[in-house]
Amino acid sequence: MPGPVEGRSRPRRRLGGSASVGTAAGPAADSDLVRATRGLPVSRTPVWFMRQAGRSLPEYRALREGTAMLEACQDPDLVTEITMQPVRRHGVDAAILFSDIVLPLVVAGVDIEIKPGVGPVIASPLRTVADVDALPPLEPDRLDFLATAVQRLVGELGATPLIGFAGAPFTLATYLIEGGPSKEHARTKAFMYAEPAAWQRLLERLAVSAATFLRVQVDAGASAVQLFDSWAGVLSAADYAGRVLPHSRAVFDGLARPEVPKVHFGVGTGELLPLIGDAGADVVGVDWRVPLDEAARRVGPGYSLQGNLDPAVLLADRETVDREVRRIVEQGRAARGHVFNLGHGVLPDTDPGVLTHVVELVHELTAR
Ligand code: CP3
Repeated sequence: MPGPVEGRSRPRRRLGGSASVGTAAGPAADSDLVRATRGLPVSRTPVWFMRQAGRSLPEYRALREGTAMLEACQDPDLVTEITMQPVRRHGVDAAILFSDIVLPLVVAGVDIEIKPGVGPVIASPLRTVADVDALPPLEPDRLDFLATAVQRLVGELGATPLIGFAGAPFTLATYLIEGGPSKEHARTKAFMYAEPAAWQRLLERLAVSAATFLRVQVDAGASAVQLFDSWAGVLSAADYAGRVLPHSRAVFDGLARPEVPKVHFGVGTGELLPLIGDAGADVVGVDWRVPLDEAARRVGPGYSLQGNLDPAVLLADRETVDREVRRIVEQGRAARGHVFNLGHGVLPDTDPGVLTHVVELVHELTAR
């Protein structure tokens, strides 16, 4: 088994100040990633990529061969190895747990499959109030595999932080109600309007299971968490504020670990940016539509920012990649703290060499 990952980087400079005050314990507590989430000075802008563990890597495809996605997510050996792959290859400043947002539902007993090239598909979608009330709760003692994987990872990662994650109640509800991926999420919205009481119960239950899923990861040593509300951008600001945001806040409140840095991300959330931080995030994730300087204005002071590089840019020529990376590094200076990332996940046909190059370029441009 390989030793702790020191990254491919030079040793991190310790900066003065009360770095580890108010952050989670462990060798990663003073990492650039954790510091950037707090708006503290960093030795250079930390970089990681959403979906960095996955099909852009040949070593991932080789390891996953013959194992179904949701089975792989429950095997601590596979979770550890797949999570480590992009850290070793790219020298990113954080690992993100290899798992999936539907896993808490799967562990609770919901019949879900992840179809390659499609996404999560639910055998019996939730369509009635009775379906909502029959949703099984997530028992924390079924998450031993997760605690084991996180503990192993934290040991291997050393000073590199592990980001734990969960799916936000709204985005999970879209999969449960639609039965699979959807563009308009019309059934979800119709249910939200027609059955407000059952909608509230559904999102409350999903918030409890997301908080449980996060707490297991944090208690096992994860340094930060990200709540993915990938499809929240389909909502108006008023509906988001009234019918969704309180449940996202319940996830962070239910986690009950105020010292752990929290990232909150969604796609198409330009109109929601002034609201998203209210859920209790330290860092607001931004897609490629709103530049970071404008996003900093919309979220207001008191938040760090993450994201904005269009994943499709990584499929273009090197000059375009470099120009976009430089733009985002510059515009990111408007935020309290900046975590370099994509505006959504790595596309499967991305050349992994380009990802490694982006890490090196961000580090070079921001070394202090
Ligand atoms: O590297 C990482 O970011 C960590 C792993 C991760 C996965 N899924 C692995 C995965 C994370 C953070 C997720 C979260 C997730 N899953 C989200 C939120 C993030 C986002 O992209 O908005 C969503 C919406 C899902 C649901 C989901 N799972 C989709 C849409 C898909 C893609 C289906 C496909 O084949 O195109 C999945 C499957 C999935 N999750 C894969 C991976 C690596 C691919 C499955 C495979 O390799 O067989």
